[in-house]
Amino acid sequence: MKIETFVLERFFAKHEFSAQYLLSSSDCESLSMSELLNMADAESRGMWKDLRLGYTETPGHPALREAIAELYKGLSPEDVLVVVPEEGIFLLMQALLEPGDHVVCTFPGYQSLYEVARSIGCDVSMWAPDEAQGWRFDVRELPPLLRKNTRLLVVNFPHNPTGSLPDQETYASLVELVRQRGIPLFSDEMYRFLELDPASSLPPACEMDPRFVSLGGLSKSFGLPGLRIGWVATRDRGILDRMSRLKDYTTICSSAPSEILALAALRSRDRILPAQRARVQENLRLLERFFDSHSRCFQWNRPQSGSICFPRVEIVEDTFLFCETLVKETGVMLAPSRMFHYGDRHVRFGFGRDDLREGLERLSGYLDRLAGP
Ligand SMILES: Cc1ncc(COP(=O)(O)O)c(C=O)c1O
Repeated sequence: MKIETFVLERFFAKHEFSAQYLLSSSDCESLSMSELLNMADAESRGMWKDLRLGYTETPGHPALREAIAELYKGLSPEDVLVVVPEEGIFLLMQALLEPGDHVVCTFPGYQSLYEVARSIGCDVSMWAPDEAQGWRFDVRELPPLLRKNTRLLVVNFPHNPTGSLPDQETYASLVELVRQRGIPLFSDEMYRFLELDPASSLPPACEMDPRFVSLGGLSKSFGLPGLRIGWVATRDRGILDRMSRLKDYTTICSSAPSEILALAALRSRDRILPAQRARVQENLRLLERFFDSHSRCFQWNRPQSGSICFPRVEIVEDTFLFCETLVKETGVMLAPSRMFHYGDRHVRFGFGRDDLREGLERLSGYLDRLAGP
């Protein structure tokens, strides 16, 4: 199999573990083992204590699948396959797509959402939002993108990297369109539960149609990327069966300790998620003040959801060079838009971490030196 380099992941590999301030990470502040175990319910704590480190069931631990199914109306544990989130994208596309198929995907975005399809030999058309309209995705632009051989529409809301979230009406018309055309929807919902206004949350795709597939996971809103636990949820058992057979060639089954910790986290979601949302809301206020006082440097669209945003940088021509110099001189890491195949004028900010204030102060000092106060 030939596939292009995942440029954003390589950029993170280069800087993530040496930069002092990660101002571009998309995940929320991570929990420690002891924090998680302290809030775990008695049953999960007992399972943790008695855990034997054997292989686990390919579809996922039954109790974990049950806890995941509870996140979706009308789904049962059999409608869930536990995967590493990134693995879910890979397996779904391998299961559904053939060379010569056509795919439409939200763009800019997480590279695997279109790159895996391309590596299979699919032609991918991009559905891009309008920056001048606050990164709004316009559903009227979708019909001309669809073809007779369009086999999949891939969307990611809340959207990485812009923080865009369609309103309910827009989303309903998208769903109606693909239903009419008989095209399955693959909805990457990794940033679900980080909607800044909970009333704006979209219904998960897997609830809306038996053929639609939702991708979820604990990496972003729960702040538990180190568990490497995610899932694919759909009432289309045929897709799950094909993905399970392919999973035998990737991970076979999930890590036993991670499954139990994931169960504990899901059962404690009423404590974890409000705390993460509060941090993101507080950090967004810091960001607002930061962008207000640096309006000469950035053109900013306030994100509607999630823990990331994608401002345009006004004072440099090449944000890749800007980010490389910034991290070298100040220890502050931002991700340039080149890592999203989206030119050299934007950067991605992430605002889910505890040390955002200190990182922004360091960045402010650098910008003042570069552009004048
Ligand atoms: C939109 C989106 N989907 C999937 C993933 C993959 O998640 P993970 O890194 O936990 O496998 C990410 C990670 O950044 C993401 O942003």
